[in-house]
Amino acid sequence: QARKLFSYNIVLIGFMGAGKSTISDYLSTMFDMKLVEMDQEIVEREEMSIPDIFATYGEEYFRNLETNLLKELQEGENCIISCGGGVAMREQNVVEMKKNGRVVLLTASPETIYERVKDSNDRPILNGNKNVPFITDMMEKRREKYEAAADVVIQTDNKSILEISEELISKL
Ligand code: S3P
Repeated sequence: QARKLFSYNIVLIGFMGAGKSTISDYLSTMFDMKLVEMDQEIVEREEMSIPDIFATYGEEYFRNLETNLLKELQEGENCIISCGGGVAMREQNVVEMKKNGRVVLLTASPETIYERVKDSNDRPILNGNKNVPFITDMMEKRREKYEAAADVVIQTDNKSILEISEELISKL
């Protein structure tokens, strides 16, 4: 069994398209850490896609699933937890993450975010609003909460996966 590198969890937060899934995937492979992609875990447990969960049960139901899952995850260590973009919006979730995790905020400009999300169809929050002005506005509304939750902030525009990962590790 691989040696445990971290005695805590690494929790990635940030707006949709900030690179949470890509970076957590890379880090978990590099450091042989357990990866939990929250959206994916919810989809598997519910046996439903995120858009279907939103359409059938509503956003609040989805947010409660996130909160319950996050609580469960704090029992582990040496995990990479990739949060959905809205997880850090609930204060209760942030308290939970910090129990056993170091919280890393990934950021990018609205233009970069737009480029990264424009072809995806599984983000109901952006339904019918996939444009730079809407993204800019929503990012601005969420910014304070993201920043308050973060132990480390990493700007991802024009950086490679390797550069972002190295910066993350050096800042932990
Ligand atoms: C959401 C982000 C999504 C997903 C859901 C809601 C949000 O995750 O959890 O569609 O409110 O920002 P990603 O950040 O992985 O796209």
